[in-house]
Formats: sequence, C-alpha cells, structure tokens
Amino acid sequence: MIVLGIETSCDETAAAVVRHGREVLANIVSSQLDLHRAFGGVVPDLASRQHLQRIEPVIQQALETAGVSWDRIEAVAATYGPGLASSLLVGWNVGRGLALTLGVPFVAINHLQAHLYSPLIEHGDKALPMIGLVVSGGHTVLAEVAGIGDHRVLGQTRDDAAGEAFDKVARLLGLRYPGGPEIERHATSGNPHAVEFPRGLAHDDSLDFSFSGLKTAVRYWLEKNPIKTEAQRADICASFQEAVVDVLVSKTIRAAEQRGIRQVSISGGVSQNRRLRQRMAEECAARKWRLLTVPAALCTDNAAMIAALADRYLNSATHRVSDHAVEPSACLT
Ligand code: KG4
Ligand code: ZN
Repeated sequence: MIVLGIETSCDETAAAVVRHGREVLANIVSSQLDLHRAFGGVVPDLASRQHLQRIEPVIQQALETAGVSWDRIEAVAATYGPGLASSLLVGWNVGRGLALTLGVPFVAINHLQAHLYSPLIEHGDKALPMIGLVVSGGHTVLAEVAGIGDHRVLGQTRDDAAGEAFDKVARLLGLRYPGGPEIERHATSGNPHAVEFPRGLAHDDSLDFSFSGLKTAVRYWLEKNPIKTEAQRADICASFQEAVVDVLVSKTIRAAEQRGIRQVSISGGVSQNRRLRQRMAEECAARKWRLLTVPAALCTDNAAMIAALADRYLNSATHRVSDHAVEPSACLT
C-alpha cells in the first residue's frame, strides 16, 4: 500500500510517500526555523501562514521525488494533534480534501503516536513489544507498546518537555534556538559533573518526569555565577545535559525492568542527542537488551512517520481506522 503523509503540527511543513509502512519513497520537510529563530521560539500565526504557502509545493515535491502519480496513492494521512491548532488545521484540511478527491481513506494520526511507533519503520515488527521513550520539544512520554494501537502511557512530564528544557536553558545561556543541538555541541568540551543540577522526580515511585525545577536551578546558578569564559559555558551545558539524560535513562530502564520488556526505543527530536544515545546504549548493553533508535531524518518532525503509522493502522486486523478519523485532540490515546 502507498500512503501520502502530511505533517503540519508545529513549524515544519512536511509531506512523505511511504510504501508498506516501511519504505520511505520521499520524505520532504520544509523547515521554518530561520523565520522563527529571531523570536526565540515558534510564533503560531506565522507558522500557519507559512504552512498555507508551502503545503502544496511540498506535497508536489514528495510525489515527484517518490516517482509516484496521484492515481497510485491508496490512502492519505495527516496529523490531527497535539500541536498548534491553526497549523494542524492546514495539513488536516488539505489531507482530508485530497482523500475525498482521490476517493481513498483518510487517516488522522496522533503526532505522539507517530513518534512512538517511528522505530518500526526501520526495525519492523520485531521492535515489539517495546518500552518507548518519546522525547521532543513539546512532549516527554514513556509508553509500553505491545502491538499496533496497543500502547499504554507509563509516565510523562508534569511540566516542561525535555526539548523545551533544552530550548529554555539554551536561551538563558545566550545560545540560539533550537537549543538542543547547541547545548549538545557546547557540552562536548565540558565537564558533566562541574555542577550537580537537580534530577527532577528521580527518586519518586512514579515514571513521570519534571524538568522545570532543573531549568530554574540553572537560572539561579547563572545569576550567582555569571558566565565569563567558553569553558564555563561548556561546563554548564554538559552538567545540564547530564541531569536531563540521567532521569530519562533511569526512568526508561526502570520502566522496562518493571514491565519485563527487553527492548527499549527512543524517538523524537531529543533522541538525536548523542549523550542520551550513548548512556541508554550502555545501560541496555549491560542488561543484554536491544536499543532501537531512529534515523535523524525520522527523529525530528516529519510526515514519513505519519504515513507509516497510517499504513499500520489500515492493515491492522484489530484496529478500526474509523477511530482515527476524529477531530483534533491533545492526548496520546
Ligand atoms: O520532535 P521535534 O522535532 O519536534 C517536536 O515534536 O517537538 O523535537 C524538537 C526538539 C527541540 O526542543 C530541540 O531542541 C530538540 O528537539 N533537539 C535536541 C537535539 N536535537 C533536537 N535536544 C537535545 N539534543 C539534540 N541533539
Ligand atoms: Zn514531534
């Protein structure tokens, strides 16, 4: 089956063509990063206007790159949430309109589920069951995935998302948006134990996360110790990154131990972080577990993960696709 996917939940206008849920024939992402960078974050009104301008050429480019004509598209999928409402509406409406015109099924996909299931694009069904950690700019969710559509949230952030913490701390440090890659770059030459920042909720019984206390701790530390050298900046970046990675890794491993599952996946924009990958890989290797990661192009927001999950749902015997043709909503279920 060939599925056209559309993603416009934040500041990326994306379209992709995916065959059989695993072969990514085209994955086009038009990023608005340069436009929003000047504001230090995404401006919703600007984002939706850009989606309106870019969505048609991006879809056209996806079909051309894939070498697929309209009559070969067998389903259309678009993100319905969570995300910026005015941005989501652009992709959702275009997708629904295309599906009606082509006379093919329309599948509305949850963005978080798409990140959660994105390891299946490369690793296939043998990725299941798994404990999936989704770490992005808007969300931090730990879930158990037993089968297609059979997932259960085990924990999530109670305040900021991991990526949001990277972005906010980068701002405090005078680094540009998005903060994750900038902090990672500066952290490489820093000492991760220069400052022992708090590990939010690390010792409570839940599998939830909290990053706002960490962000505040960095702010207070900087007020008392203004940065004077690049070496100091590197130390703060490394120490902050270590605090985030510590809790992400320890809670994910604890979740897998509690559930008796020996496969762990990390997905979403923050999963590109090399320190996170390294520490998670070490912990998994020590237990002889399998760590599933996602290629860079499928970590950050993209439409291939939307099309791939739609294919899975359309071909799942136990899953009713009508469940997904729903109005925008902001949950993982
Ligand atoms: O998944 P994504 O593209 O968008 C959302 O769905 O939110 O994730 C974007 C987030 C940003 O907060 C960005 O700072 C973070 O991912 N990020 C990183 C890295 N690359 C991107 N965070 C830490 N380390 C990185 N290398
Ligand atoms: Zn995302």
